[in-house]
Amino acid sequence: MTSLRVSSTSLATVRTDAVVVGVASGTTGPELVGPATEVDTPLEGGLLAALSALGATGGLEEVTRIPTQGRLGAGVLAVVGLGKAPAEGTAFDPEILRRAAGAAMRALAGLRKVAIGLPCEDPAAVAAVAEGVLLGTYTFDRYRHLSAERAKAPVDSVTLVVPSPRERAVRSAVERAAVVAEAVNLARDLVNTPPNDLHPVELAQAAVDAAKALPIKVGVLDERALRRGGYGGIIGVGQGSANPPRLVTLTYRHPRATRRLALVGKGVTFDSGGLSLKPPASMPGMKADMSGAAAVIAAVTAIARLGVEIEVVGWAPMVENLPSGAAQRPSDVLTTYGGRTVEVLNTDAEGRLILADALVAAAADKPDLIVDAATLTGAALVALGRRTGAVMSNDDRTRDRVVDAATRAGEAMWAMPLPDELRASLDSPIADLANIGDRNGGMLVAGIFLREFVPATIPWAHLDIAGPAFNEEKPFGYTPKGGTGAAVRTFVKIAEDLADGRF
Ligand code: BES
Ligand code: ZN
Ligand code: ZN
Repeated sequence: MTSLRVSSTSLATVRTDAVVVGVASGTTGPELVGPATEVDTPLEGGLLAALSALGATGGLEEVTRIPTQGRLGAGVLAVVGLGKAPAEGTAFDPEILRRAAGAAMRALAGLRKVAIGLPCEDPAAVAAVAEGVLLGTYTFDRYRHLSAERAKAPVDSVTLVVPSPRERAVRSAVERAAVVAEAVNLARDLVNTPPNDLHPVELAQAAVDAAKALPIKVGVLDERALRRGGYGGIIGVGQGSANPPRLVTLTYRHPRATRRLALVGKGVTFDSGGLSLKPPASMPGMKADMSGAAAVIAAVTAIARLGVEIEVVGWAPMVENLPSGAAQRPSDVLTTYGGRTVEVLNTDAEGRLILADALVAAAADKPDLIVDAATLTGAALVALGRRTGAVMSNDDRTRDRVVDAATRAGEAMWAMPLPDELRASLDSPIADLANIGDRNGGMLVAGIFLREFVPATIPWAHLDIAGPAFNEEKPFGYTPKGGTGAAVRTFVKIAEDLADGRF
């Protein structure tokens, strides 16, 4: 990961390849904000005129490069747009700073050393810039061997210029940002790893590796243990593949913990649909169908490294969903963990089957809160697009708190209902439940299916991250193409909020 240091050095004289400052978009063009004025002086007050001449507007994530011709310590001045300035007396939304910092880092790839000075009036703003930098420099080039095709190397050393770098709150905010960004980047690596190198066994091993040297206990149930233990959902979905399933648990307990959190994540290392085979065009993105599990693994490591005063258990059921002579058939009946039977009418609705087992197992510990994340339905994309996740819950207050935590963490998540009338569409003529119901409101139907496996007495929220988990389009802000690490920051924020008595 890119190295980050915090300093109060002068943006005008700091010796780096580039200096980044921010501008807002005003009614008549760009406006200097925060430390941008510091670099304007050695440029003899000509920065705004230069920007206007170059057609810059100050729009969010716009990056304009200006050669400094020796007038600054840096060879290049990069000016990043922050969009409309906030109302007088209020600060920029941290998410704006995070995006701008990420966009600047992406634009400057190929340079080695960069200093960045955005308007940071409080530790939360500093943390946002730090996160934006460390998330924006992410690259996944493990599979690129031809140097000619190698993408430009990411910026490898960044100086964050702030007024009081030694202040305790600033230092701890930056430390937290680094831990969280590293976790998000770990989840991205796992999602980006091709499915021929990341079967359930390898994903389970990745959890073991991630927890090494941390106070986290990892448990791995193999296919034999799963069969004996009655995890019929995981076994049923996994049985079509030569690569056997796993159920991983990661437990971290702070000595002063009083609240218990269960995090559950869908870990389908590849979802072909099974015998209810997906059309070819829908398949390549299905290596990302383990994004929920990746988020759980990454978030538990971050929670442990941050020493959040909580007990957290991560649950990650892992399977590969493939068709074969051993695969489950549409009309098979499974017995999920705890005894509920499910008629599998569509083998492509597999996420809910493995989550059913994991949710029942997680609830047996009687946690104070259960939150799951899953790339569960195509309907989530239809409803909310590619960038916004959905939050559903058995309790409206819990749902709203989860949405609030996500927003403060910088993740776009939107509250969705679980209308009771949709439950009847999941009735099966022969089993307790069918795994598909009404196509209309398919995301909500999936949420209602999951709700059946959580005791009404335990607050539970379900994040459908089918849209935001994988970016098939161009990079934006601090979000790269491919795996995004969706839900990691929300999970960590929820753990902190629960520890603080916010839930
Ligand atoms: N993994 C998919 C959902 C998905 C689709 C995630 C697109 C990301 C992008 C899931 O297992 C699935 O196939 N769901 C089906 C459910 C249906 C059969 C009820 C779907 O959404 O079509
Ligand atoms: Zn599926
Ligand atoms: Zn799936």
